[in-house]
Amino acid sequence: MTTLTAPLGAPRSASARPPALLMREVTKTYDGAHTVLDRVSLEVQRGTFLAVMGPSGSGKSTLLHCAAGLDDPTSGEVHVGGHRISGLGETKRTLLRRNRIGFVFQSYNLLPSLTVEENLTLPLRQSGAAADRTWLRHLVERVGLADLLDRRPAELSGGQQQRAAIARSLAARPDVVFADEPTGALDLDTAAGVLDLLRELVDEWEQTVVMVTHDPAAAARAHAACVVADGRIDSYLPNPDAAELARRLTALGRR
Ligand SMILES: Nc1ncnc2c1ncn2[C@@H]1O[C@H](COP(=O)(O)OP(=O)(O)O)[C@@H](O)[C@H]1O
Ligand SMILES: [Mg+2]
Repeated sequence: MTTLTAPLGAPRSASARPPALLMREVTKTYDGAHTVLDRVSLEVQRGTFLAVMGPSGSGKSTLLHCAAGLDDPTSGEVHVGGHRISGLGETKRTLLRRNRIGFVFQSYNLLPSLTVEENLTLPLRQSGAAADRTWLRHLVERVGLADLLDRRPAELSGGQQQRAAIARSLAARPDVVFADEPTGALDLDTAAGVLDLLRELVDEWEQTVVMVTHDPAAAARAHAACVVADGRIDSYLPNPDAAELARRLTALGRR
């Protein structure tokens, strides 16, 4: 069985900074037998927007959870921003995750009783990190929430809530933001706006986003897409095209 390493674009700067995400031969098995991820190797350079696609049950969520330190691989290594996050034990892994990783979920996961501003700064308070007021101001202006900071999530549209969740994910200036179907609950126009925002944050600020999506049109907004099948990276497409992705997914479904 071959392992595919997918080098994703050259770093923008000449300095040899570690990749935002490095997965080396990551395997995840359940009950000692059921292999869900099979020696997956993946390198994501800073300033890259990567989409992860694949049939249902192919291992996308498991890949994301192992990459993001929510779960620990059975074997292999995961490094985020040059720091190993695998094989550390729960406590150290949680600390690293809080400082170096952001999350965006399909259902936004904002706390309903808190204002937008309180939601944005909650991860900083949890990790004990000092809030960088200049960065936060810049961020809320960039995502278009500067006038909505005192509102509660229920007083925002779905698109605004997802923008707040994106701002929250970036508040601590993480090495990587992982997004799991971030546009799954939005209508087409709003979804397009959120995808544009993610792409702009990556391009303008050299952020790094790894997004699971089942929508080829959403994946086509990324710099690159990898298609997962049976726990392995089946293919890797730079500058993915929605029609080509749809064709590959259909072919995998027929196997
Ligand atoms: N905690 C678990 N215990 C046993 N099997 C699991 C567990 N989590 C996921 N799986 C199995 O791993 C496979 C891949 O799951 P998942 O990563 O959720 O796929 P996807 O996100 O691509 O739909 C599925 O067959 C699923 O049943
Ligand atoms: Mg899943």
